[in-house]
Amino acid sequence: MDHFAIKNGVMHAEDLPLTAIADAVGTPVYVYSRATLERHAQVFKQALAHLPKAHIAFAIKANPNLAVLKVMQREGLGADVVSGGELARALAAGMPGQDIVFSGVGKTATEMVQGLDAGIGQFNIESEEEGVELAAIAAARGQAASCALRVNPDVDARTHEKISTGKAENKFGVPIDRAAGIYARLAALPGMDMRGVAVHIGSQLQQLQPLEDAFVKLGGLIAELRANGQSVTHADLGGGLGIPYKAGEVFPSPADYGQMVGRVCGNWDVTLMFEPGRVICGNAGVLLTRVVRVKRSSNGAPFVVVDAAMNDLARPAMYGAWHDFDAVEPNGSRMVANIVGPICETGDTFAMGRDIDALEAGDLAVFRSAGAYGATMASSYNSRGFVCEVMVDGDKFAVVADRILPAAITAAERVPDWLE
Ligand code: LLP
Repeated sequence: MDHFAIKNGVMHAEDLPLTAIADAVGTPVYVYSRATLERHAQVFKQALAHLPKAHIAFAIKANPNLAVLKVMQREGLGADVVSGGELARALAAGMPGQDIVFSGVGKTATEMVQGLDAGIGQFNIESEEEGVELAAIAAARGQAASCALRVNPDVDARTHEKISTGKAENKFGVPIDRAAGIYARLAALPGMDMRGVAVHIGSQLQQLQPLEDAFVKLGGLIAELRANGQSVTHADLGGGLGIPYKAGEVFPSPADYGQMVGRVCGNWDVTLMFEPGRVICGNAGVLLTRVVRVKRSSNGAPFVVVDAAMNDLARPAMYGAWHDFDAVEPNGSRMVANIVGPICETGDTFAMGRDIDALEAGDLAVFRSAGAYGATMASSYNSRGFVCEVMVDGDKFAVVADRILPAAITAAERVPDWLE
């Protein structure tokens, strides 16, 4: 459920017509609904309420905007971060270091120090090499790094290949059959406090079975580690729950997921950790855009050229992803069109031959479900600048990220004097 709906003929975010936002800040612009963000965080918490010990770390990569993080912090969520930049954002949003998990295969020594400085709750170690390096850095500082070992369970998440992370050939985690040995060696190092295991098999998962298969394997590993005399107090189950991008699509609910977790992991006697991203913020945002013109094509559907492009919303170009596209003021008629942006490559196509609300030059429309992996994946390709973001709360809104104009980007560039 989200808070983007037509009222009196105009699409609103909560109680605010999207026309008012376009008038005030221009387009393209990402619009987030505070009520939807809160609701999704609460639904996820509720789905896990029956578990004895659960910790939710919002995957900041899905939407790192500070205002979005503030909503998460107010809901009591921690953060899953994958860079020093994301760590700084989590801290800036007021999330306690203890509630932060640091994931990622390429943490640098500098980032490890940043995590230790912040007293983060858990580093998710993705290789033995990384663990050895972190232990040495922590020991030299007289600290012990609190860590979980991320394992690669070799499970097919049945999602897009570019966002699948749990197959043996993917770069993430250590092979599960080598995990017990690595865990023991790392646990023996000064500077290392091994407290658990972690798994994350992919994103936009439409089925629970691959997750269940991975969790069963993780449970086996926990039993093996304990039988070897190791201590395991935490198990991080990652993120990955998918969301409907097309009206009518059905996905497992957070409640279904919570039930499965309870059944498979409920008796592990650990703190279960979760790293949801998309399921919390995906449907809490739209990308509001204006039609620049409608261009006749030589054979077939016309091109609806919008002022948003692949640099603002990369998912269709990158993964062939579908985003529902709706007029802000639908007039009841329909058209079949190709929806494209202004960027000079054919990849800048949002949809081909799509049945949509009839649109003309100047009309407003939205790409739905753009609250996750939207603005954060933006670039300035074609010198278009960075898209603006706003958050709506009832009938008011605030700009939560300024539009960065092309001139501001050029201002950071230099021509060396030996080229003058
Ligand atoms: N934890 C880890 C270790 C992750 O790598 C990810 C996502 C998450 C949690 C959050 O996953 P979620 O609950 O959002 O599925 N840009 C792609 C998605 C990349 C996901 C990367 N990792 C897209 O637009 O679909």
